[in-house]
Amino acid sequence: MNAHMPAISESSAQESFPDGPIRRGSEAHKILFCRTLLDTFDPYKPAVIDWPALDEEARNRLVSLPIWDIAVQTEGRARTNVATYAATASDPLLRRAIELNAFEEGRHKLVLSNLVAAYGITLAPEPPYAVKGDPEWAFMVTGYSECIDSFFAFGLFESAKRSGFFPEALVDTFEPVIHEEARHILFFVNWAAWHRRSMPFWRRPWFELKVLAVWLFLIWERIGIARDMGSGVQDNNFTVTGAKSVGDDINVATLIDICLAENDRRMSAYDRRLLRPAVVPALARLARRFMRS
Ligand SMILES: [Fe+2]
Ligand SMILES: [Fe+2]
Repeated sequence: MNAHMPAISESSAQESFPDGPIRRGSEAHKILFCRTLLDTFDPYKPAVIDWPALDEEARNRLVSLPIWDIAVQTEGRARTNVATYAATASDPLLRRAIELNAFEEGRHKLVLSNLVAAYGITLAPEPPYAVKGDPEWAFMVTGYSECIDSFFAFGLFESAKRSGFFPEALVDTFEPVIHEEARHILFFVNWAAWHRRSMPFWRRPWFELKVLAVWLFLIWERIGIARDMGSGVQDNNFTVTGAKSVGDDINVATLIDICLAENDRRMSAYDRRLLRPAVVPALARLARRFMRS
C-alpha cells in the first residue's frame, strides 16, 4: 500500500537557500526552485486517510462524476513521465526534486485509488504506463498539461467547496493533492525557464520548437476530447467534464474569476523571485474580457 518514500537528503552547503536577487537560468535560480519543492514536501500517508462516510446523495454525486478513470490514469502517466525524466537528470539537486515530483504523482494515484475503493467506484482497466521515445518530451507534456488542468482544478475545487457539492471532510482530504499540483506547476515553469537559459545557445531554437509542439499537441488532444464528449467517452478533459458535473448552473465567467483568484492565492505562498505559470492565466484573462460578468 505504501509507496516508497524518497530519501530527501540534507542539503549541502552549496545548496543553501539563495538570498537577494537571482538571475533566471543561474545556479541560484536552480537551487531556489528545487529547494522550494523539496522544502515544502508534506509527508502524509494516503493509506491512513480516513475517508468520511457520505450520505446516499453525496455518494451518488461522487460516483457519477465521469472523471475517475482519467484522473487515476493521468496520475499514473504523470508518475512514469516524471520519473523517467528524473533518471536522465545529471544534476543531483535537480534530480532529487524531480524524483520527489514523481513520488507525489504516484501518491496522488494512491489517494485516488483509495478513494475510489472506499466509495465503491469501479474503474476501467488501466493501460500500461511507459515512456516511448524522448523522456524530456514526456516530462514537458506532463508539465504543461498540469499547467492547464491545475488552473481549472483550483477553481473547480473552490466552487465545489463553496456550493457544498462535496462535504467538507472530503474537500479537506483532497486539499493536499491540489496544493501539490500548485507546487508542481511552479517547479515546472521555473525548470523550463532555467533549462532554456542553461543549455548551449545552439540548442535553444530546437527547445523552443519543442515547447511549441507540446502546446500544439495538448491543444489537439483537448480538441479531440471535446469531440468525444458527446459519445460519453471518459477522457482527459477534466475541465469540461468537471465543470459540467460540479454544477450545471455554474457560469463560465464566474468559474474563470474563481480560477484566477485561486491561482493568485495559491501562488502567492511562494518565494517572489520564482516565476509563476503565466500562459493559462493570461489566456483565461483574455477570454474573460469577452464575457459578461
Ligand atoms: Fe498529480
Ligand atoms: Fe503534478
